[in-house]
Amino acid sequence: MELPARLTIRPLRLSDFQDIDEIQRLNPTASQWNAADYLGYFTQVAEVAGRLAGFLAVLELPGGEAEILNVAVHPDFHRQGVASALLKTLTARILYLDVRASNSPALAFYRRHGFVKSGHRRRYYAHPVEDAIMMRRQRGH
Ligand SMILES: CC(C)(COP(=O)(O)OP(=O)(O)OC[C@H]1O[C@@H](n2cnc3c(N)ncnc32)[C@H](O)[C@@H]1OP(=O)(O)O)[C@@H](O)C(=O)NCCC(=O)NCCS
Repeated sequence: MELPARLTIRPLRLSDFQDIDEIQRLNPTASQWNAADYLGYFTQVAEVAGRLAGFLAVLELPGGEAEILNVAVHPDFHRQGVASALLKTLTARILYLDVRASNSPALAFYRRHGFVKSGHRRRYYAHPVEDAIMMRRQRGH
């Protein structure tokens, strides 16, 4: 994991929607949302040399907790530290997320960043039906 040169992180804008759609389309394992719906959450995007390389959307909860709703990186930028840089911007004391049981890259990414399995939801996802792995990270643990 090496941080790309010229990586900047900023809040989502209306003008990003087409790029967000494209990143989701190219990453079928990501949750597929309407880009406009991310505006209702804390959504940050990463740009590398002026290109939209990835995004991270979070639901902020009371008490310094937050849930990661989605994170996806354009395949041209995978394994270059983009998602790690987005994750580093989060300050919540406790982070939660759900991930498809077969999504090995995401599971490896979260484990690398200190998340541990906290539960298992059977047949949680549709299209295709699949179990969810629940994960959690608490600062200082
Ligand atoms: C999961 C995802 C967001 C990671 O983004 P990324 O920018 O490529 O991740 P990083 O470069 O910051 O990776 C950091 C570390 O995570 C782990 N990792 C990331 N991708 C991995 C992969 N494909 N296989 C194994 N480990 C992986 C590695 O430990 C990596 O460090 P390393 O490259 O030094 O070995 C990206 O693969 C993606 O967009 N996947 C599709 C969307 C998705 O499924 N999102 C999850 C929704 S819950």
